[in-house]
Amino acid sequence: MKKVNINAYEVFCKNACEKAGLMPEVALQTARLLVRTDMLGIYTHGTLNLYSYLKLVADDKIKASALPEVASEAATWAVVDGHWGIGMYNGWFGLQKGIELARKSGMSYVGIRNSSHYGACGIYAVEAAEAGMLAIVMSNTTKNMSVPGGKGRVIGNSPFAFSTPAGSHRPVFVDIATSNVAGMKVTNAAEEGKQIPEGWIYDAEGNPSTDPATPGYSLVPLGAHKGYCLSFFIEIFTSILAGGMIFGPAQNQNVSHSLMLIDVGQIMELPDYVRRVQGAIEEIAGSPKMAPDGRIYLPGEMEWDRYEKAEREGLPLTDLIVNHSKQLADMTGLGNEFDKCFL
Ligand SMILES: NC(=O)c1ccc[n+]([C@@H]2O[C@H](COP(=O)([O-])OP(=O)(O)OC[C@H]3O[C@@H](n4cnc5c(N)ncnc54)[C@H](O)[C@@H]3O)[C@@H](O)[C@H]2O)c1
Repeated sequence: MKKVNINAYEVFCKNACEKAGLMPEVALQTARLLVRTDMLGIYTHGTLNLYSYLKLVADDKIKASALPEVASEAATWAVVDGHWGIGMYNGWFGLQKGIELARKSGMSYVGIRNSSHYGACGIYAVEAAEAGMLAIVMSNTTKNMSVPGGKGRVIGNSPFAFSTPAGSHRPVFVDIATSNVAGMKVTNAAEEGKQIPEGWIYDAEGNPSTDPATPGYSLVPLGAHKGYCLSFFIEIFTSILAGGMIFGPAQNQNVSHSLMLIDVGQIMELPDYVRRVQGAIEEIAGSPKMAPDGRIYLPGEMEWDRYEKAEREGLPLTDLIVNHSKQLADMTGLGNEFDKCFL
């Protein structure tokens, strides 16, 4: 792992976005969200993918100059049309709209259609909680997962995240796919020439496989029927309710996202709410450990440990991210700027 200066790396990512034709504000939020995702250690869904996103921009599959707009709204909900722009900005824009509505009305639903892959659901959930919101954040994906009784790719491994403000603690959050593992973990293993554990994928005939290069593989649903059923309902809350494309097409362009926010301070005095959350946290942390020196983690706690270490010591990048970012630097003519990011 090589470490980069966080600010310099974020500016490099932002400049690469601008060189690829994104507008400054779009570039800024895209770079910021992806770098924060890396800081949380969610390396599969941070800056690793910026090179492939910007190649899609170059191919006009993600629209460089698109800006999201509110297509319809009422006091507690809005539907945003992402106009096939870059997913991170669409997600961020939808979140700002959701926070605005929840602050006025106590809670909100925002559906975002005609978007593209937007990385980790967790980063939007974290930023919602940082704004005092209890949040559920979801996205649909292209068809990449099998369903019990079926074979091949029938449904997406649609991810979701929950988060809550937790007072002096960083937001508590969980951020997972509805498959046993995120598809990027399979893609990365294939790129690195590594085998994967059983339980991640099936081959096209529905047999277990440990080869990430298996043609026509499908992801295994999280907890069999449970991941399938959750994914089905995420499709309802995202593409179906927001009027987007159901089961986005291959290449993951044209997906939908959604979020539901509760401004907790309007339902319960915030200090009371936080005291109750902290009570639950302390009860879990204080429960018996399997090993005397063992540790129980809260949802999101591992991510915050990594985040705070990155803030103190610089952001470690995996070899795969360094390779992809190097390709990005070559594509955008920012090689010198990229080299200067390293500590
Ligand atoms: N945009 C997309 O199309 C898409 C699709 C799929 C997945 N994803 C993203 O992929 C990422 C990884 O998904 P995944 O399913 O592989 O997640 P994962 O299996 O790595 O689980 C991560 C979550 O589990 C929690 N966790 C892990 N170990 C824990 C422990 N011991 N105690 C308590 N909590 C623990 C973490 O805090 C985190 O919230 C997510 O960010 C997800 O949003 C995105």
